[in-house]
Amino acid sequence: MHGKASIPGAKKGFSLPQVPKILVYLVGFIPAVWLFYAGITDQLGADPMRYLEQALGLWALRFLIATLTITPLRQLVSINLLRYRRALGLLTFYYALLHLVTYTVLDQGLDFAAIGADIVKRPYITIGMATFVILVPLALTSNNAAIRRLGGQAWAKLHRLVYVAAIGAALHFLLVVKSWPMEPMVYAAIVVILLGYRLVRSLGRAPAPRRRPA
Ligand code: HEM
Repeated sequence: MHGKASIPGAKKGFSLPQVPKILVYLVGFIPAVWLFYAGITDQLGADPMRYLEQALGLWALRFLIATLTITPLRQLVSINLLRYRRALGLLTFYYALLHLVTYTVLDQGLDFAAIGADIVKRPYITIGMATFVILVPLALTSNNAAIRRLGGQAWAKLHRLVYVAAIGAALHFLLVVKSWPMEPMVYAAIVVILLGYRLVRSLGRAPAPRRRPA
């Protein structure tokens, strides 16, 4: 059988039976479709706008975490889901965009002066916006043409910004709730573990010191 062109590293590890990528998008959008349906049929509780805003933000963070889990899964337990990473990353962006639209349109009624004041006054909005701004170039370059245009190395360097986005998203969630409830702390801990794992691995791979010439 003739194999398709593979993405780097795709052969490493154990591949689960191949699910078409489109299925990842279809399943990934189920929460958004359900939220939309629940919204128009009045099932989102006493404050539907807030519920929608929070749920979309939470799904964005979940997909971001899922994206960051692909590499350790492959390296630690040889489960190779690399071909779905782009879909998970783009789902992160789409949910973050829907979250932003809910905030700007439903929460703030497109009052840009109020939005500007919020960005300046509320650190969690500042961080949320900064995180979204980081996600934009990552989403725009999540296609084969962009990888070819930028070159693999520059592309990989740019996409390391996902780590900054993960810190931003976790911090944003921690700051939304002014007390210290469990949920944002659990998400923050997962982000710390996923980034800490990469840091430890990259430190372990530090180049050996140069030998002095004889
Ligand atoms: C685009 C800029 C963003 C704005 C303006 C924004 C704004 C907000 C607002 C107003 C809330 C609700 C606060 C409340 O409950 O009173 C919220 C919650 C949240 N946002 Fe964002 N956000 C942004 C970006 C992001 C991004 C990029 C992520 C994740 C990738 C994210 C994840 C969350 C999470 C997890 C919550 C808390 C959900 C919960 O309470 O269960 N946000 N955000």
